[in-house]
Amino acid sequence: MFETLRADLRRNLQDYAPRGRLRAVLLGLTLNSVHAILLIRLQFWCARHRLPTIFAAKLLFWLFKIEISREARIGPGLRLPHPMGLIIAPQVVVGANCDLYADVRLVLANGLREGPRIGNHVFLGDGAKVVGRVNVGDHAVVGVSSVVTRDIPPHATAVGIPARIIDEHNERARDAR
Ligand SMILES: CC(C)(COP(=O)(O)OP(=O)(O)OC[C@H]1O[C@@H](n2cnc3c(N)ncnc32)[C@H](O)[C@@H]1OP(=O)(O)O)[C@@H](O)C(=O)NCCC(=O)NCCS
Repeated sequence: MFETLRADLRRNLQDYAPRGRLRAVLLGLTLNSVHAILLIRLQFWCARHRLPTIFAAKLLFWLFKIEISREARIGPGLRLPHPMGLIIAPQVVVGANCDLYADVRLVLANGLREGPRIGNHVFLGDGAKVVGRVNVGDHAVVGVSSVVTRDIPPHATAVGIPARIIDEHNERARDAR
């Protein structure tokens, strides 16, 4: 848990490049993304230890309008620059070092138990939706308000409704952090 949290904090603080540990701590105390991530990881920790998740889940919803199933899996290095309106369904898998902007929805299609599988280093722009048993490959980018209903290959950029591929080897892949 602490390794995962450390990776999350590192990625959420890195945009601000705080100099020194004290500044990093003070910054961390003020960032919405850090508050939301602490609650998300607390929820998963409680679920793993068979403790009630309701406290963390309710705070996440009341403060950020975020609903993440305790059955979802989210890798380390989660970055949430604007933590609000996220919905992540059960069975969804999100890889390491992903960026999820506001109002991202990762949801099941009707009647299916399996949800989207998001690779590593994926960027899901503001309002992006991924629906059903879909694979989004490593380093893929999904544009603002786009709706992904089919697999997106690694390194591709997809936009629109339904999402279409506009770039098969995006810049994010080349500059991956
Ligand atoms: C996906 C994205 C990275 C593409 O950027 P880009 O590679 O520079 O692409 P362009 O702006 O050159 O657009 C290429 C084409 O895709 C279209 N397009 C770009 N983003 C789109 C979107 N979100 N939905 C629909 N079409 C889009 C453009 O209209 C253009 O179409 P055309 O070729 O028919 O004219 C960018 O549009 C995006 O959505 N970035 C995420 C921004 C974000 O979420 N920021 C966080 C909030 S602070």
